[in-house]
Amino acid sequence: MSEFDILIVGGTVATHECVMRQDVAIKDGVVAALGENLGTAKETIDANGLIVMPGGIDSHVHLAQPSGPGITMADDFESGTRAAAFGGNTLVMPFCIQERGKGLRIALNEYHAKAKGKCYIDVSFHLVIADPNEQVLGQELPALVADGYTSFKIFMTYEALKLADREILEVLSVARETGALVMVHAENDDAIRFLTEKLERAGHTLPTGHALSRPIPVEREATHRAISLAEIIDVPVMIVHVSNREAMEEIARAQARGLKVMGETCPQYLVLKASDLNGLDIEGAKLVCSPPPRDAASQESCWEGLMNGTFSVFSSDHCPFRYNDEQGKLFPRGRESFRYVPNGIPGIETRLPILFSEGVGKGRISLERFVELASTNHAKIYGLFPRKGTIAEGSDADIVLWDPNRQVRISREVLHDACDYTPYEGLEVTGWPTLTMLRGRVVVRDGKLVGEKSFGEHLARERSPFASSQ
Ligand code: URP
Ligand code: ZN
Ligand code: ZN
Repeated sequence: MSEFDILIVGGTVATHECVMRQDVAIKDGVVAALGENLGTAKETIDANGLIVMPGGIDSHVHLAQPSGPGITMADDFESGTRAAAFGGNTLVMPFCIQERGKGLRIALNEYHAKAKGKCYIDVSFHLVIADPNEQVLGQELPALVADGYTSFKIFMTYEALKLADREILEVLSVARETGALVMVHAENDDAIRFLTEKLERAGHTLPTGHALSRPIPVEREATHRAISLAEIIDVPVMIVHVSNREAMEEIARAQARGLKVMGETCPQYLVLKASDLNGLDIEGAKLVCSPPPRDAASQESCWEGLMNGTFSVFSSDHCPFRYNDEQGKLFPRGRESFRYVPNGIPGIETRLPILFSEGVGKGRISLERFVELASTNHAKIYGLFPRKGTIAEGSDADIVLWDPNRQVRISREVLHDACDYTPYEGLEVTGWPTLTMLRGRVVVRDGKLVGEKSFGEHLARERSPFASSQ
């Protein structure tokens, strides 16, 4: 009789704490032992020359999200979690969006129905609060936090989602009372609308107008305001998808003052620029996301934030819309003006290769920091550590084998989501996942999908230890 189900031998185990030559023994879906000469197993996986790391956790993705009349998001739970697994992830956290006039429970039921039996890896929902009425604030949110939905996202822009400052204060206040963590999309909506109308009046309706309608002060001001509102309530916040130095410095200043303010940045702010849209004409719609990518100096600032700890998580903000599709980027009105192009770009599969190649490969971050930004901090901040986010005795055997030397030219053809383009077409990266395992079962091996789409589960989460103001 074998002692273990699986032994991963000969690899270099990388966690947020250390990098060490060790074997990993797995039994009943959890890590049973780490070390050398661990014993026998039913299956042995050779990890010679590979990094053995905790499965990636992407705490900011959009899947199967209603996106307005005539527009359909490219990825549902099946294609989205499939691509995530190919990209070395074992858990993604999509948003469950409340529709104004409807309750959050109704929205959750709809999202659970869409996800059921369709997830190759685990998922866990954040709640987007679009209508913080008395029932939502007083009844639904406290009950949902108790049920394990322990993070909310609020928007300061987008017509259907934005909250007024008073409403933000109400949500933050409930977060403080319930111990939930609030993620904030920080952009000044009035300024965006003012600038959009001005650009349109001047005839500037192509996608290049998108970045001009959302310049850095739009993001910096809203970041400052979100932090101030959180300070008034005395509650931590996570500022998501930060794109530039000025917004980052608002976060760093708050942190220096002892406030619990966290920050997230994403691949698009490291390797894309607003100028990439120049000359693309209407095809620039492929790069329309918010906040928009900026310039080379902003890219360096975002690296600085990843290196010095101002940012604690690195997420994809995967939000895919097809380009050549009657329900995609240009329809029904995307050709008329950039304001109608659905915001968001795909990136669920390319997040980790880009971070590894540009970060570890170019000497900007250590391997331990890579693991922290790719996985561990997401688990810690969103209430799943140490079950997820590390390789330690008792943790779920969510493990990725990573080939640090594999060179890949990113292109649509090598990816597995349902979008019809990648904004990273042609980007050469070194470092790619070769095996993804969820709770001791292999999902992707050597470029082949071998997992089952019913094995991924929805995870209820603990309250974040980072959500407490103490
Ligand atoms: O453009 C983006 N980021 N779309 C996704 C929605 C959001 O704000 O996260
Ligand atoms: Zn957002
Ligand atoms: Zn997003």
